[in-house]
Amino acid sequence: MLTAYDYPFARILDEAGVDIVLVGDSLGNVALGYWNTLPVTMAEMLIHTQAVARGVKRALVVADLPFGSYQENDDQAVANAVKLVKAGAEAVKIEGSGYIPAIKKIIRAGIPVMGHVGFTPQSVNILGYRVQGVGSREEKRILAEARLLEKAGCFALVLELIPEKLAAGVTKAVKIPTIGIGAGKKVDGQVLVTNDLLGLYDDPPSFVKKYADLKGVIKTALKRYILDVAS
Ligand code: KIV
Repeated sequence: MLTAYDYPFARILDEAGVDIVLVGDSLGNVALGYWNTLPVTMAEMLIHTQAVARGVKRALVVADLPFGSYQENDDQAVANAVKLVKAGAEAVKIEGSGYIPAIKKIIRAGIPVMGHVGFTPQSVNILGYRVQGVGSREEKRILAEARLLEKAGCFALVLELIPEKLAAGVTKAVKIPTIGIGAGKKVDGQVLVTNDLLGLYDDPPSFVKKYADLKGVIKTALKRYILDVAS
């Protein structure tokens, strides 16, 4: 799974063979210039989900329910999940295990839900930006959350920023696929923010392997263009 926020990248990801294209609310950090994901609105998610869905022919399109779009009540959660589906998403992702009734209601409405445990960026002000699931109490909590989300009907689970041993334990404990980010290799799949792995974002997290330096490539091309025009 990789993230996309616009039509051209969605096309490239799809053509390259990525299984799942995630319109993540990391949109806020990497495409809209916010400090974190908290300011991202439904209106922004809808525009970017529409653009991504237009570019994807083959992969599964999953869109994040942004902060504030599901916390009020279950009906708000279902209504916003429906909006994301109408914008082209085939499933939605929701962070944490605090909204199980909402998750069940979204699934009852016919919309698959991907869960997300460990470091959940929408709770950064409570969690801090640090590895989660350290110590036996924390391990048990994350394992319990994963089981709860599986029981609620989630079809897959993102495990973010947790120790590899815990990620392996969760992967063993649940039947649904786990998709790790900063959670080691013992998971069923991996996800990264595309801009990070392509070298398009200045401060990627330390666990990100950089597969290209697109910022450098683009800057060199632009400098060549400026020289051509100026000469
Ligand atoms: O918003 C996002 O891009 C995500 C992934 C990093 C899992 O939630």
